[in-house]
Amino acid sequence: METKRSSFTGKIGFVLAAAGSAVGLGNIWRFPYLAAKYGGGVFLLVYILLAITFGFSLMVAEIAIGRKTGKSAIGAFASLDKRYSFVGWLAAAVPMIILPYYSVIGGWVLKYFTGFVTGSASTMAADGYFGNYISTVSEPLLWFSIFLGATALVVLFGVEKGIEKVSKVMMPLLVALTLFIAIYTIVTMDGAWDGVKYYLMPDFSHFSIMTVVAAMGQLFYSMSLAMGIMITFGSYMKKDISIEKSVRQIEIFDTGIAFLAGLMIIPAVFAFSGGDQSALGQGPGLMFVTLPKIFEAMPGGTVIGALFFFMVILAALTSSISLMETIVSIFMDKAKVSRRVGCLIVLGLSILIGVPASIGYSAWSGVTILGMQFLDFFDFISNSIIMPIVAFATCIFVTFVTKPKGIIEEVELDQKFKQKKLFSVVIRFVAPVCILAILASSILSAFGIVKI
Ligand code: TRP
Repeated sequence: METKRSSFTGKIGFVLAAAGSAVGLGNIWRFPYLAAKYGGGVFLLVYILLAITFGFSLMVAEIAIGRKTGKSAIGAFASLDKRYSFVGWLAAAVPMIILPYYSVIGGWVLKYFTGFVTGSASTMAADGYFGNYISTVSEPLLWFSIFLGATALVVLFGVEKGIEKVSKVMMPLLVALTLFIAIYTIVTMDGAWDGVKYYLMPDFSHFSIMTVVAAMGQLFYSMSLAMGIMITFGSYMKKDISIEKSVRQIEIFDTGIAFLAGLMIIPAVFAFSGGDQSALGQGPGLMFVTLPKIFEAMPGGTVIGALFFFMVILAALTSSISLMETIVSIFMDKAKVSRRVGCLIVLGLSILIGVPASIGYSAWSGVTILGMQFLDFFDFISNSIIMPIVAFATCIFVTFVTKPKGIIEEVELDQKFKQKKLFSVVIRFVAPVCILAILASSILSAFGIVKI
C-alpha cells in the first residue's frame, strides 16, 4: 500500500527533527558513564574518530537509501533487493528492545525530578541513595509505568507536535545549563581538574578492545543508527536538501551535547571520589549518583536540579515517543492494525520487557543473563550484537546492491559530495572489517571465552 509521504519543511526542519530524535538519554546518561568506565580521554578520542568516519558514512548511506526508495527500513531494503529484507526486520527489532529499558531510565529521571521539586534534594544526594532506590520493587516500577504510559498516550493521540515544540525551545536551555554545571563543578570543586584531565587527555594505558566496542555501540545508539530510523527520516527528506551537510550538522549537535554531558559528570566523579576506579566504573547509575551531589553543593541547587531534570525528561520523552511511533507504525503497516491496537501491542511488549529490566536490580537481582542484569543485557544485545549486524549488512548492501555510486548519486542530487572518497572506502572496507572484529570480540567476551 503506497501512501503519500509528507516532507520536512525547509532545510533546518530536517536537521532539527533528526537531531531531536538523536539527542536523548543516550547523550546525557549513557555517554558519560561509558566514557568514565572505558578510559576517559581514549574513549572520547575513539568515539570522535568513529563518528567522523564510520558514523558519518553509515548515516549518509541510511538517509540516502531512505530518500532514494521513499520507504522506511523494511520496505526500503526489500524494494532494492528482496534477499536483504531480513536486514529491515532486524533493524525494526532494535527500537522494540530499546524502548522498554529506555522507559525504566526515563522513570529514574522522573523520580529525581519529583524529588527535587518536593525538596528532597539532600536525601537524593546522600551516599548509597540511588543503589537503595533501585533495589526497591514498586517505586521504580511505578515511575517506569508513568513514563511509558505518557509516551503511549502521546503516540496514541498523535500529539507529538506539541511536545516537540516545547522541547525545541528547551534544548538550547539544556545545553546552556549543562555547560554552566560543568564550569561550576570544575571551578569550585577540589579534584575536579583531575577529572577534566582524565576526560580530555587520552591515556593509552586505559585502552582496550572494549573501548572500541563500547564507543561503536554508543555511536549507533546516540545517532540512532543501524535501526532503520535514519532510513525513515531520509524517506521524508526533500531532494533539494543536502544530505552531507545535514549529517555533519546532526553529528556536531549530537556529539557536542554528549561531550558537554561528559564534562559535567566526569570531573564531578573525581571531585567526590578522588577518581577511584569503582566510582568511575559504576555504569548506568553514574549520572544519578553524581548529579544530586553537584546540585547539593551549589547555591540554588534545588531549583537548578529540578530545572535540569525537567529538561532531561523532555529530551527523553521526544526520543521515547519517536521510538514508540516507529514500532507502532511498523505494526500498523505490516499487521494492518489500527493505531490504537498497535499502541496496545507495543505497550504490552514494553511492559513484558521493561518489568524485568526494572526489577532486575531488585527482586530479580540474583538472575543474570551471561553475567549481566536484565537492563544491561537488553542494552548489550541491541547495541553490541544486533546493531553491528545491521550495520554490517548495510555496508554489504551498499557495496553490492546500490553500489557506493548509487548512494553518491543520491547525495549529489543536491550538491557535490565532498567526502565521497572517504565514504566509499569506509563503507566498503574499513567499516565491515571493524564491525566484524568488534562483533566477534563482544560475542566472545559475553560468553566468557575471552576476557577483554
Ligand atoms: N538516540 C537516542 C538517544 O541518544 C536514543 C534512540 C535510540 C532513539 N534509537 C532511537 C531515539 C530511535 C529515537 C528513535 O537517546
